[in-house]
Amino acid sequence: MKQELKKEKKEEKHQAVLLKEVVSFLPTEENLVVVDATFGEGGHSQKILEKMGRGSFLLAIDWDAAAQKNFEKLKEKKRASFVLGNFKEIKEILRKQSRGTANFILADLGWRLEQIKNEDYGLTFFSEKSLSMRLDGKKEGLTAEKIVNTFSAEKLADIFRIYGGEKQAWLAAQTILSAREKRLITSAKELAEIIEKSLARFYRRARIHPATKVFQALRIFVNKELENLEIFLEKAVEVLEKGGRLAVITFHSGEDRIVKNFFRANARGCICPPEFPECVCGRRPSLKILTRKPVFPSAKEMNENPRCRSARLRVAEKI
Ligand SMILES: C[S@@+](CC[C@H](N)C(=O)[O-])C[C@H]1O[C@@H](n2cnc3c(N)ncnc32)[C@H](O)[C@@H]1O
Repeated sequence: MKQELKKEKKEEKHQAVLLKEVVSFLPTEENLVVVDATFGEGGHSQKILEKMGRGSFLLAIDWDAAAQKNFEKLKEKKRASFVLGNFKEIKEILRKQSRGTANFILADLGWRLEQIKNEDYGLTFFSEKSLSMRLDGKKEGLTAEKIVNTFSAEKLADIFRIYGGEKQAWLAAQTILSAREKRLITSAKELAEIIEKSLARFYRRARIHPATKVFQALRIFVNKELENLEIFLEKAVEVLEKGGRLAVITFHSGEDRIVKNFFRANARGCICPPEFPECVCGRRPSLKILTRKPVFPSAKEMNENPRCRSARLRVAEKI
């Protein structure tokens, strides 16, 4: 059964999520600068290149060197550049490209299908080759393997609770400690089996694998996903031109909350407590929210691409 599932996943093709919806917010005037901060397989970038106005330029960013070969496959890539880097450095990256500001910035967060399919990233329950979980594909630095084999039970439980919302965080942490006493945990498959054995009874009625939340927590922690997102949002607003737009697609509630709260705070401006008779912070609104409610994929898209079911798009405009 698992083998069949694995085979099915290998045949899946990448589909850019909420593509039509994202492009509907793209300004199409001439000579604009557009940033795709999470280039991936270039699905959004390709459509943006087709739709953006004459003389406009696309800057594609991804921190995974393996994404660069996808850039080579783009049609009309002479109107674009690829930069290998973390999107939290968007300001510095734009400056190095002699651009400075942007008119449209897109971030489609998380991982791409290629990273799931390639066992070297250690992202799926089936991966026998690795327990890295690094989305930048680097071999050095923090990995999930280091975390599960060296962190204390308290620290592991905190990670599972805070980033995965796992109610059995302490039990999962204890199970990992007992397992690693016998031998180091070196593959995602081993970790999934260890967690499954200990948490299966709590997930009998659930429609997810018992290790789903532990895996999500480790991936978020390893890649500093929430910290990177917070820095990125601040910098993105700094580099946006007036009237420029920031579009973010999230895939879990932790990310979505950060984007929602950031947009709201910047649309409100003043951060003084409500009991203050007048504003003392002096902050002015810098964003207008264009999506009062998040945009979800249509039933048709979810049917064609079930992986997109948790996607949410939020868009705001610099004022
Ligand atoms: C969901 S995929 C993007 C898919 C893309 N929109 C497409 O249509 O092909 C997310 C991509 O963002 C990259 N990524 C994630 N976090 C990043 C970060 N902090 N800086 C740069 N790239 C990042 C991942 O390596 C991955 O390639």
